[in-house]
Amino acid sequence: MTGPNSWLPLPLVGRQQELTVIRRALGAAAKGDAGAVVIAGGQGVGKTRLLEAVLAEATERGFIIAHGTASQTDADVPYAILGEAFTPVVRSLDSATLNKLAGGAAADLARVVPGFDANPASARLTPEAPDDLTMRVRWHFMQWVERLAAWQPLVLVIDNAHWADPSSVGLVQFILRHAPRARLLVLAAHNPTESAVGAPFGNRSCCC
Ligand SMILES: Nc1ncnc2c1ncn2[C@@H]1O[C@H](COP(=O)(O)OP(=O)(O)OP(=O)(O)O)[C@@H](O)[C@H]1O
Ligand SMILES: [Mg+2]
Repeated sequence: MTGPNSWLPLPLVGRQQELTVIRRALGAAAKGDAGAVVIAGGQGVGKTRLLEAVLAEATERGFIIAHGTASQTDADVPYAILGEAFTPVVRSLDSATLNKLAGGAAADLARVVPGFDANPASARLTPEAPDDLTMRVRWHFMQWVERLAAWQPLVLVIDNAHWADPSSVGLVQFILRHAPRARLLVLAAHNPTESAVGAPFGNRSCCC
């Protein structure tokens, strides 16, 4: 069919139960109850479509959206998915806001999101980073997420989370553990048949 509106996506069918779970989690996050919802389901069942519908709602509700789609080819690249998700957020901020939210930790934050650093070469992280550096990066990144989400509530969306790099997964788990009052919802779509490790961030989950 052709016509002036033929490019519009078809409306979301069903998914009321899933939307109820996610809307409740969005409401909780907006009030300072950080959480995660994992959408689990097999190939082609509608995980990405559901994420898209939720993202449109979250944007209308005033959330900042950090959105990335993990890929198998980047599964070994440190912080690949967090870098992808947060780069547009960092780029959208003016430099005064960015500096304020960075809290003087831009060099460490650039290890996760290269856009923090004017010199990307200094932002590379080898997979063998020493534990103390990893911990410092984790604390600084968690504090940046807390400050960002205090400024405007935040949804971090990770599609194809079964391919998320382990350093990003570890950092997201760290944030959820240590910043329970952040105005943050982590929303991940995950195909259990693609992964042996189980749902990566789930404290609530819904299945397609
Ligand atoms: N609830 C729905 N209402 C309308 N269309 C849907 C719905 N769910 C899925 N679709 C459509 O079905 C197709 C497959 O959905 P989608 O890409 O979201 O699946 P997926 O689970 O993300 O797949 P994959 O595992 O390959 O990532 C898309 O064209 C999408 O628009
Ligand atoms: Mg998908």
